[in-house]
Amino acid sequence: MARINEHYAKLPASYLFPEIGRRVRAYAAAHPEAKVIRLGIGDVTEPLAPAIVDAMHAAVDEMGKRETFRGYGPEQGYDFLVEAIRQNDYAARGVEIAADEIFVSDGSKCDSGNIQEIFSLAARIAVTDPVYPVYVDSNVMAGRTAAVGADGRYPGLTYLVGNEANGFQPEPPAEGVDVVYLCSPNNPTGTVATRAQLERWVAWAKQHDAIILFDAAYESYISDPALPRSIYEIPGARDCALELRSFSKRAGFTGVRCAFLVVPKTVTGVGADGARVSLNALWARRHTTKFNGASYVVQRGAAAAYSRAGLAQTTAQIAFYMENARLLREGLSAAGFTVFGGVHAPYIWLRTHGGATSWEFFDRLLTETQVVGTPGSGFGPAGEGYFRLSGFNSRANIEEAIQRIRRVFG
Ligand code: MLT
Repeated sequence: MARINEHYAKLPASYLFPEIGRRVRAYAAAHPEAKVIRLGIGDVTEPLAPAIVDAMHAAVDEMGKRETFRGYGPEQGYDFLVEAIRQNDYAARGVEIAADEIFVSDGSKCDSGNIQEIFSLAARIAVTDPVYPVYVDSNVMAGRTAAVGADGRYPGLTYLVGNEANGFQPEPPAEGVDVVYLCSPNNPTGTVATRAQLERWVAWAKQHDAIILFDAAYESYISDPALPRSIYEIPGARDCALELRSFSKRAGFTGVRCAFLVVPKTVTGVGADGARVSLNALWARRHTTKFNGASYVVQRGAAAAYSRAGLAQTTAQIAFYMENARLLREGLSAAGFTVFGGVHAPYIWLRTHGGATSWEFFDRLLTETQVVGTPGSGFGPAGEGYFRLSGFNSRANIEEAIQRIRRVFG
């Protein structure tokens, strides 16, 4: 008899986005004539940039010839991609990251779910609330929590509430936390941490010997040069922070899959005997044991995102999505909604209409406007009464969605 991991039973039956998908499919089946506009899951809609497509075609051709065929690649990523990351994402911004501190993977969702494995089950974990659900669910699966409470929180996790008063950027906790997940630009609220806020986090982590897991999957949506794109732009972060980066939203790779995790050799945790242990060594052990490297073709595509043409083309795509975000932000404000985010992130976070719960508003929006969004409560109890719309869609669909929402709610 195979006993299951009973911690899974503490989770809701389905993950947030499949649940939304299930409800939308049921609605569409019952209303086949409805033209549903999906602004729920943040999934890119523009085709891959031509420079990326060309690089992937060329890589496929290499794989089809005996002389240039490749089998398993280096687990941490091919040198050509690691060097491009080092130069473009870090050295160009005055940050020194070594090649063996970068771990190329098949996605930040996996990295952010897996990273908790290298910490003790006794490690005290903090998340912001609202939060990207993977951080919470992966810690529940690992057994760091009790069953969810009536307040929607898992005892064992520390929740740092983001609200309108703090601009959805909670301050560091006074004490009692070993590891904190931060996401900036933030999913779901679309808000962004300032340099001063990140400085406070790094100072806090150093003072409390804590680790920051910094999810920067949306950094390319930052347009203000004064805002840090990497936690390593903050002095001292190399001693206390790991950084997650993704090609999903920056180069349209949600269906291609490529990301990387930066683990500086200077970040350490503590072993049972009190000795300091390099997190880089632990993650390298984990990565090389459980992962055989992202595909060669995909890594060639990712590297092409840093070429002159690739950069120009992907920058234009990001500008396109950010114009969508601007239209949504302004259109919804004009309809009377209180909106946040959408300036340095592709997400708009809004207060629901008339005090509706997040799921009530989801149902109203779907049935009365055929627009799909994401209920804020799906991101944690502090998201109740809020709703997320994504700027990832065609211009025509964004404009149509705004018109429909204004007609019903404006
Ligand atoms: C989202 O909609 O929050 C994201 O697309 C989910 C993800 O990146 O996994």
